[in-house]
Amino acid sequence: MAAALLLLLSISLLAATPSSSAAGDAMPVAEHRALTDILTSLLADQSWAELHPLPCSETPWPGVQCDTVNTDFLHVVSIHIGPDVISSPPCKSSAFLPPAALLHLPFLKSLSLFSCFLIPNSASLPPSIFTNSSSLQHLVLNSNPGLSGEIPSSVSTLQSLTVLSLSQNGFRGEIPPEIGRLTGLQQLDLSYNHLAGVIPEEISGLSSLAILDFSSNELEGNLPSSIGKLQSLQKIDISFNSLAGRVPHAFGELKRLALLDLSHNNITGPLPENLSGLKELEYLIMENNPLKTSVPSFVSSLKKLTVIGLSRCELFGPIPSSFGSLISLTALSLDRNRLNGSVPASLGSLPELGQLNLSQNQLAGEILFSVEFVKRLGRD
Ligand SMILES: *[C@@H]1O[C@H](CO)[C@@H](O)[C@H](O)[C@H]1NC(C)=O
Ligand SMILES: *[C@@H]1O[C@H](CO)[C@@H](O)[C@H](O)[C@H]1NC(C)=O
Ligand SMILES: *[C@@H]1O[C@H](CO)[C@@H](O)[C@H](O)[C@H]1NC(C)=O
Ligand SMILES: *[C@@H]1O[C@H](CO)[C@@H](O)[C@H](O)[C@H]1NC(C)=O
Ligand SMILES: *[C@@H]1O[C@H](CO)[C@@H](O)[C@H](O)[C@H]1NC(C)=O
Repeated sequence: MAAALLLLLSISLLAATPSSSAAGDAMPVAEHRALTDILTSLLADQSWAELHPLPCSETPWPGVQCDTVNTDFLHVVSIHIGPDVISSPPCKSSAFLPPAALLHLPFLKSLSLFSCFLIPNSASLPPSIFTNSSSLQHLVLNSNPGLSGEIPSSVSTLQSLTVLSLSQNGFRGEIPPEIGRLTGLQQLDLSYNHLAGVIPEEISGLSSLAILDFSSNELEGNLPSSIGKLQSLQKIDISFNSLAGRVPHAFGELKRLALLDLSHNNITGPLPENLSGLKELEYLIMENNPLKTSVPSFVSSLKKLTVIGLSRCELFGPIPSSFGSLISLTALSLDRNRLNGSVPASLGSLPELGQLNLSQNQLAGEILFSVEFVKRLGRD
């Protein structure tokens, strides 16, 4: 019996060595071992390695993808684990990432672990997991409430990264300034964690960044004006934090920005006139900040605006009648401010406007809207 088992074992070992006769079917031994190590550390099903001796060919494993990458061997290029992958096996409650997990997977381009670490404080990212021998492009660890501790600064050694998404985990501590060295990064999503401290100035090194999402954390301090250097930015969401101070003038340099969501912070006004440079802006969401200013008239020069959210911003004075020239506007929320004067009739001619909330202000006078317009507003 023991002899038969040994024989079986040696056959599967043989099959896994590069010297296997079927060229292109074999995996380097070190990679096979690293893959086995990762999956045994994560998954509840411990029989994986025995049942699937050839994870890249005859006995494929859900969520694992391989490719020859123009070599003579098969290499692991992608590992995706989680309920978002069809027939993906469940993670065990004591799941963890082995410290050198990625060291021997030099061809791995994409690692995604979704809803894997669920027990509070049960896992963390060991700093040694990220090395410059990695060619990782997508690192997506989302919805892992058990994943806590700090984001290791060694993440900055992943020089091929284009997508870093660490949303809905339990990360604490500060955003490592070294993250600014990821010059190829296009998407950075650190939303829904417990990250504290200030947003590091060094973020200005992310010269390819299109999407920045730090929403729902505990960040404080001022918005660094160095963000204005990120000329590829299309979306900034830093809502639901404790940011203070003013919006920097330099934000007006963000020529491609389509979404700016700074709602639910402690940001004060006035908003800088330089924001009139945001010619591509579609969403201006600032609700629930103590702006304590009049409604900025430069907003009417941002012709692509579709949604303006300025509820509960301690705004005073009149609603500029020039808002009637924002022909793409679908939603305008100015409720819970101290606006006075009359409601400009020009708003009634906005062709797309479907939501208008002016409640809880000190507006007076007659509202001269057409029956057709009022009907449209009543639709939803
Ligand atoms: C990786 O880092 C080590 C030590 O920090 C360094 O010696 C090596 O040159 C680096 N390799 C690459 C490819 O950057
Ligand atoms: C803000 O706009 C003013 C006037 O247009 C300009 O002189 C200034 O350089 C701008 N500031 C920044 C930081 O972009
Ligand atoms: C907001 O800032 C003011 C000072 O400008 C401070 O007194 C207040 O505590 C801050 N509020 C929050 C929620 O951080
Ligand atoms: C609006 O309020 C300001 C004070 O905040 C006051 O000076 C002004 O006269 C008011 N305007 C109208 C039309 O009530
Ligand atoms: C308008 O704003 C008020 C006060 O903030 C809020 O109670 C109400 O639900 C809002 N109405 C719509 C249609 O959003």
